[in-house]
This record gives sequence, C-alpha cells and structure tokens, in this order.
Amino acid sequence: MGIRIYTLAKELGKDNKEIIARLKAMGVEVKSHSSTIADEVADRLRQERPAAPAAKEAAPPKKAAGKPKAAPPPSAAPPKAAPGKPKAAPPAPPPPRIALTAPVTVRRLAEGLGLPPGDIITRLMKFGVMAAINQTLDADTVEIIAHEFGREVSIGRERPEAPAAPPKRLVPRAPVVTFMGHIDHGKTSLLDAIRRTRVAEREAGGITQHIGAYEVALDKGRITFLDTPGHETFTAMRARGANVTDIAVLVVAADDGVMPQTREAIDHARAAKVPIMVAVNKIDKPGASPEKVRGQLLEAGFTPEEYGGQTIFCDVSAVTRQGIDHLLEMIVLQAEVLELRADADAAPEAIVIEARMDRGRGAVATVLVRSGTLRVGNPIVCGPYAGKVKALFDFRGGRVVEAGPSTPVEVLGLDGVPQPGELLTVPAGDREARRIAEERRIDRAAAGGAAVSKMTLEELFSKISAGKAKELLLVIKGDVQGSVEALRDALVKLGTEKVAVSILRCAVGDVNENDVMLAAASDAVIIGFQARIDVAAKELSRRESVEIKLYNVIYEVIEDVRKAMEGLLEPAIRETVIGRAEVRQVFRVGKGDRVAGCLVVDGKVTENARARVIRGEKIIHEGTIASLRRFKDAVREVRGGTECGIRLAGAVDLQEGDSIEAFTMEKVPQRL
Ligand code: GTP
Ligand code: MG
Repeated sequence: MGIRIYTLAKELGKDNKEIIARLKAMGVEVKSHSSTIADEVADRLRQERPAAPAAKEAAPPKKAAGKPKAAPPPSAAPPKAAPGKPKAAPPAPPPPRIALTAPVTVRRLAEGLGLPPGDIITRLMKFGVMAAINQTLDADTVEIIAHEFGREVSIGRERPEAPAAPPKRLVPRAPVVTFMGHIDHGKTSLLDAIRRTRVAEREAGGITQHIGAYEVALDKGRITFLDTPGHETFTAMRARGANVTDIAVLVVAADDGVMPQTREAIDHARAAKVPIMVAVNKIDKPGASPEKVRGQLLEAGFTPEEYGGQTIFCDVSAVTRQGIDHLLEMIVLQAEVLELRADADAAPEAIVIEARMDRGRGAVATVLVRSGTLRVGNPIVCGPYAGKVKALFDFRGGRVVEAGPSTPVEVLGLDGVPQPGELLTVPAGDREARRIAEERRIDRAAAGGAAVSKMTLEELFSKISAGKAKELLLVIKGDVQGSVEALRDALVKLGTEKVAVSILRCAVGDVNENDVMLAAASDAVIIGFQARIDVAAKELSRRESVEIKLYNVIYEVIEDVRKAMEGLLEPAIRETVIGRAEVRQVFRVGKGDRVAGCLVVDGKVTENARARVIRGEKIIHEGTIASLRRFKDAVREVRGGTECGIRLAGAVDLQEGDSIEAFTMEKVPQRL
C-alpha cells in the first residue's frame, strides 16, 4: 500500500528532508514529505539505518542542504554527479560553465541559464525557497539550482575591491498562513477555533486585541496566521508587491463544496505561487461530504495525498474542533518542507497588514516583520510617512521591545496611516527617515497618485525586447464556458519560445472587481469576451491602471494578442471635439488666404487644435488652424460667446454660415 514520507520520518526519528534526500540518492523521485513511497523502499530505508553513519563518512563533503548525505547503494541510480567526479550514467556532456556577477537574482540566473524565471522559481520551491523574481540568491543556492539544470556557474564580484559581505545568519522563521475560501465556509470560525484552543488561555487580562494577525505556538514550532477578510486583502497586498503568505489554506465547507469564490481563491494563491493546503470544514454537519469536496478539487487539479497526490487535505470542524490539531500539525509539516528562513541580522523590513488612525495613539500600523529585528526607538519610514517606533505591541496587546521575522506587531510612531502591503524600513537615522518620506511624498504628488504602470499589450513588445517580459498573463472572462475555453486554448498556443502566454483565470461571467485585483496583483491583462465590465470593476481598473478590453469576435482577440507579441499593435487615435465656431464673415488676406470672422458658440477653439469645416450636413474640409486672433492679437484660445478670427492652414474656400469644429487628436496606446 505504501507509506507517507512524514510517517516514515517519524518512525525512524529523522527529518523529512533527510528521508527525501536519501530517496533521491536512491533514485526514487519524490515531490514532498506527503508523497507516498512503496513499502519495499521504506523497508530498505529501515534496514540501512545502522549503516548510514559509515556511508556518510564515505560520501564527499557537500555543504548544500538537501543533497544526499550517504553514498547510493550500487544498484540504485546515482545522484547527479558533483563536478570533477567521474559518473557512470546518464552519459551527459560536461556541463557548460556560465559566469555571473554577484549579486545574482532569480532573474539574472534565469537569463544566464536561458530559462524562464518561472522555472527557476519552481525549482527553488522544490528546495523550499520561496523567492521573488528580483530576490538575490546566495552562491550555494545559485550553484545548486544551476546544477539542477545541468550547468555549472562561477560567480564573480561586481566590485572586486569590495570586502566580502559577512555571511548571513539565516534563522528559521514561522510560516505565515492565510485562510482563503468561499463566503461562509468558515474561515473566521476556524481562526477563532485555533485562537481559542491555542491562544486565548495565554491572553493577558483576557482582552483580545484585534491586530489582524496572531501567532500560535506548538511543540514543533510557531505559526503566524493572517486574520484578513479573505482574499481581497491577500490580493490587495500582492498588488502592491507584497506577498507575505507562505501557505494558503483553502477552506471548503463539506456541506457546500467548491463554490465560485473557492475557485477565485485558488486562482489567487496559484498566481502568487503560494503552496495550497485544503481544510474541509463543517464535517460535523449532517449533509457533509468531504469525499465530494475531494472529487471537485481533484477536477481543479488538486490530488489529495491519500490518492497518491501532493495536496494535503484535512477534515475539520470549527464547531466541534475536531481535526484542528491535525490541521495545525500538517501546517507545521508543510512549513518544514518549505524551509523558511530569514536573515535575522539584516536591516529590519516589515510589511503593513493593516493600519488605522487611533484617536489616543495616533497612527497604528500592524506589520509583519519579514527580516531583521524591529525595535522600539528605531527610526522608521513607511510609504510617504516617517517616524520613530514609540511602542510595539504583540498580538495579545502586550508591550514588547522587539519583534523578529514572521512576528506580527502593532507599531506606534508613524506620522500617517500607510496602506496595507506597504514596506516599512529602518533607515540610518531620524533625519534620513524624514528625507525619504518627503521624497516619496513629492514623487507621489508628481505622479498624481497614479498607480505604477501595469502590463499592457501595448508595452508588451518593448518589454519582450528589453528582456523584461517572458510571460504574458491573461484573465479571460466570457459569456459561456465553451467560448472562454476555446479562447484560452487559442491564446496559449500563441506562446513562443520568447514569451509564454499563461491564463490566470478563465471563467464565465462579467469582468468584476476580483478579476481586476487578480490582474493588478499579477501584472495581467483582462480580456472580456461577449462580457461586460461591472461598475465597481471599471472604477477599480482605473485606480489600479489595469486595462480591460472587450471583444465580440474570437479572431479579433487572437489577432490583437498576436500583434502585441510581435510589436505590431498600432496606437489608437482618439478624437475629442473641444468646440464649435460659426463663420460670420470672410475676409481675404494676402495671396488668396481667407480669414474667417467667427463666433465661438460652443466650448472653445485653441490655436493648436485641428479643425473641420462643416457646411450644412457635409464636411468640406479637415486640417489645422494656422492662426487664431482676437482683434489684432494672436491668442491661444477663444472661449464660447466670444468673437475671433480663424485662419485655416492651406487654401480653404470658407463661406459665411459654415461651422468650424475644433477637435484634438490623441494617440492612445492600444492597451488591453
Ligand atoms: P466570510 O468571512 O463571510 O467569508 O465567512 P467565513 O468563511 O469567515 O465563515 P464564518 O466563519 O463566518 O462561518 C459562517 C457560518 O458557518 C457561521 O454561522 C458559522 O457558525 C458556521 N460554521 C463555521 N464552521 C462551522 C463548522 O465547522 N460546523 C458548523 N456546523 N458550522 C460552522
Ligand atoms: Mg469571515
């Protein structure tokens, strides 16, 4: 029947990691601690236990974690050979060496290897490293990942004279967990149940301070829960570039099954590349069918581990508290595999989870520390606000003097209320903090509060050319399942070696706020096919600079996306009529030029506008305005109700009674 790795690890008193490494050395492919292995394989591991230390000594020393520590038995497939070591099979050519300069980010490594960054990120995840595309990787990690793709790297220093940076002190940190799922499926109840069993009794004075996050201490480790109202916050934060969640727990009510928001939650977590676990809730209810939920999620691509898949499913009830401890245990296990680490000595960095203005205490920001240690007295800057940490409160409302990685704390001392998702940093001093905040205030004012530019089809090609885009992400909404699926398939096929086309969501319905948030967070483009945009979504798309384009013909969508990928999308021209003037009298001047004495009857006429002459119903001329005068003076604009002289460029046969329509033309980038 087989045995799960974590069960075997428990039995042998070993780490999951050790077992996984051992299995790899034996040539057994496993994906995670929840994978099932055959009994014979397990037996082999059981038997070789006493021999392990000897084998360990015989193996070449290799500092990288997760590498096989013991030599493989002769019968098993060998692990990937270390450089210089003769290897038996497979007969691969000697790995070509690539040279990179430090610091090596995920992106630069991907470029060096000639792979999409996504591949690197996925591979890193396999090693438990959750890295963003611009994250710097240490030399060991770079070496291991390159090796995974059969390449060797040498890392040079950008400035050779620079002293070697002291090694980072990476310490384990607690996982940050977010519950996501359909409305009323029990996210809040589950968090409450966990709080009550694990937190409440320790609360100071029994007063619960709601700070949007709390910690749970278990024998095997700590867990930080983000107590946010669903995936809106998750996505809103991600839209600001802050993905703080390490594990998403998808909550599905056993009596209701997978619902629209369950699917949305899945899209969000997947787009964020966050590992997903499933809590099947409300199993106490009469109509509960955890099996049905498994079946539905199987269709959505989640194979439960008990069916030989990778997804951890936990059956729970927030009401009877059945299964809660098991759920917590599984979260800890999943976290163990992710090997979450933070640099405890780094300059402190935290991310705002929520913030508000408190009458007595001023701006209060709940932040989650990401790296380093935030201390009372630190000068801080967060978005356009600065200050000094006046006080820190933990999730129980107790005063603390410092907070390390993965710890949620309330921070007092900022001179304004920052947005969720904003980064809080500790600059060198108070003055520096104020300077940075001031600079940001000016920048933001200059930008008119505009959001950062998002991916658009118009910019796609230049981003591809600059090597900045390797993937076009799309959200597709449409009228019927059949058409959105056809569209999805056709668009994915447009992907080339240079740019992949990935669909974050493909669903039936009008474009809603949730779609816009998903697109904003992921830099995606929204395509509505035979669909409309709801009012709230339109407003949000403007705020978040996400462009939505509606189509009625599949062919047109495909053409536009194809052209965008090839850099052929022409900017659209938008015409705006700004005013109208009536010709009262025509004067001849110089060599056949005519000046029209006009009255502006509507709007305004400006000197740089274009003009259209309308006689009766017909447009008889279109061109530019050569000059605009009030009496003898050239003027820039003439408003309604005022007389003026208009001379059009070129020989135009103006007559009394004609209308001159002034309009502007703007090149509007074609965006989706
Ligand atoms: P939103 O925040 O509105 O999205 O909902 P939610 O997912 O937080 O659900 P909530 O915890 O508010 O629970 C919704 C309802 O389901 C409440 O009436 C709960 O009492 C009930 N409920 C939650 N968990 C369970 C459970 O395990 N068993 C039973 N019988 N009822 C539950
Ligand atoms: Mg709730």
